[in-house]
Parts: sequence; structure tokens; C-alpha cells
Amino acid sequence: MTAPRPVAPDDLPQIIDLLDTIFRREKGINDQSVLTDFPLLFAEENLRNCRVIERDGRIVSHAAVWPRTFDFKGQAIGVGIIVLVATETGSRRQGLAAELMRDLQAAMPGLGCQLGLLWTGMPEFYQTLGWKTVDTPGWIASGSNTNGDGDRRLHVVDFDPSRHLDSVDRLHRSHSPHSRRTLHESAHLLTLPKCPVLVGEADGVAVAYLVDGRAINKRGLIEYAGNAHDIWELVQHVASSRGPQRLLVFPTHAELAGIAREADWSIEPLRSSKGTGDEMLLVLDETLANSGLLEQFFCWGLDLA
Ligand SMILES: CC(C)(COP(=O)(O)OP(=O)(O)OC[C@H]1O[C@@H](n2cnc3c(N)ncnc32)[C@H](O)[C@@H]1OP(=O)(O)O)[C@@H](O)C(=O)NCCC(=O)NCCS
Repeated sequence: MTAPRPVAPDDLPQIIDLLDTIFRREKGINDQSVLTDFPLLFAEENLRNCRVIERDGRIVSHAAVWPRTFDFKGQAIGVGIIVLVATETGSRRQGLAAELMRDLQAAMPGLGCQLGLLWTGMPEFYQTLGWKTVDTPGWIASGSNTNGDGDRRLHVVDFDPSRHLDSVDRLHRSHSPHSRRTLHESAHLLTLPKCPVLVGEADGVAVAYLVDGRAINKRGLIEYAGNAHDIWELVQHVASSRGPQRLLVFPTHAELAGIAREADWSIEPLRSSKGTGDEMLLVLDETLANSGLLEQFFCWGLDLA
């Protein structure tokens, strides 16, 4: 076994094949690839944050961190999102993924990460590495009823980067918390595969948007911005054309839970920003531990792993 090492551009075909096998094909998904689902993770400038272990000249294990900056009421918090941790079937339970995780965790403070964040169906693996499961504040609203057509005011259109990029980016930044995305990052995230974005326009101006996640790794109405009534109008647009939906209601838009309840949608507490699996945090900067921030913590859909 070799020690963990950063990914080089030439490794990508092998890594993508390993990860697509485990996270896509073995789950019956043949129309998504991690390469296009995580364009910023596998961008050349982030490859040093993707680590692998080789055995007999073949890559058998991978784990990566995607450093982000979250804005909490004007305060910048460095967050390292852990993405695509996997070991090929024949090499499991030999300590490889744990070795990669320890390597990433040691590097994360140097990358400006004060917190680690991940979603998993296997919390036991991460618990032994110091991670803790957390409850995300918010609700999941499920339903398909719409409130009729009476009070619709928006013109609903598909996101068009040339028309909407600046205004959607501005809408995203108008809520706290949010991730600080460059326009280049927003351009990638707002055009991810199987994550269409609807924009609500009033008098030709974008006043709300909604991400309709249909991908295996991003499912449901997972990100939005604008005022709650305008967002609800976009939700109704999706529900009336595509049937039952799951809307993740974050505390920035608690009003949406009441609107959904009035429309007879069912409301349950949210457990993870993703709506599925366990959300886990690793506190790397102890000054955050008693800041009250961890209790309010959630992640918008387009930054989800
Ligand atoms: C989860 C996964 C990455 C673990 O990789 P690995 O290289 O086998 O992990 P390690 O050998 O480093 O495991 C270290 C410890 O984690 C725990 N662990 C690992 N796999 C586990 C499992 N399937 N069930 C419970 N605990 C597990 C054990 O405590 C293990 O130590 P032990 O073998 O001494 O008991 C691997 O099973 C995998 O690729 N699964 C499919 C993809 C996936 O689910 N990834 C995680 C998504 S967030």
C-alpha cells in the first residue's frame, strides 16, 4: 500500500471509473457521472484536495475535501465538505479510507477549514475519526397540492445564465447563512446535471429562484432564495407539472413551512441539510464550539456533496 497522495490530472479517468462504479452504476444510475456532478471538486485547482491510495499501481481508495466559505451574518466560516469517500470492494476493511480521512483532516486547518461537514449513510465510519452527528434546523414539507391559480404574480422561466446569473447570485447572497460563491462557481453550480433551476420574474426582474433536484445526490427542492410567497409560487409550479415534491425548509424561510401546511402538505422535522442520511460535523476550530453557530448550521443544496 502506498501512502495517501494528491490526485494528478492523469489519474482522473481511473478515479472517475472507480467512483462512478460505486456511487452511480452499483446504484443503477447510468446517466450521471461524478465528474460532471462535482465539476468544482475535480477542477484542476482543487485536485490537490482529492487524495488517493494506490495498490500494485492501481488506485483503490479515494476521499476529497471541497473547501468552502460560509457567511453567517457577515462572519466568514471556513468549511471543508467531505466528498466521495470510497474504497473498491476487494480492498475494504484494511484501513485505507480511514487513512485518507486522517490525511485530509490533518490538511484541513491549513486550507482554512474551521469545520468539516459531510453526509453519510455510514456514520460509524466517521465517528471513529472524531465526527459527530448533528440535527439540522428546519423541516421537510411533502405534498403536491397547490393553492390554485388565483394569486400568481410571477413569470416562471428556466434559468438562463446570460440573463439570470448575476441576479440569482445576488438573491442567494441576500440570505444568511449562505456559501460565498464566486460568479464562476455559481455558473457551474446553477447548471449541474439533473438540477434544473426555475426563476420567477416580476416585471422582467428575477425575484426568486428554486432548484429542482432530480439527481441521485441532490434530490428534492433543495435550494431557493427570494421571499417565501414567491418561492412558494415556484414550488407550486413544479408540483403542478411534476406531482408530489419534497421541499427542504430552512430557518431562513420558516414561513414556507406554514404556507405548505396551509396547503395540506405534511411537515416533518429536517434531520440533515440533504434531507436524507446523517449530517456530521468535525470541529477543527474550538472557538466555534460554544458560538451558538453550530446549532443554526445548514448547507444549501447546490453545495451539498
Ligand atoms: C465506507 C467505506 C469508504 C469504508 O472504506 P474502508 O477502506 O473499508 O474503511 P476502513 O477500512 O478504513 O475502515 C475503518 C473503520 O471504519 C469502520 N467501518 C468501515 N466500514 C464499515 C462498515 N461497512 N460498517 C461499519 N463500520 C465500518 C470500522 O470501524 C473500520 O475499522 P475496522 O475494520 O478495524 O473495524 C467503504 O465501505 C465504501 O467505499 N463504501 C461504499 C461507498 C460509501 O458508502 N462511502 C461512504 C459514503 S459517505
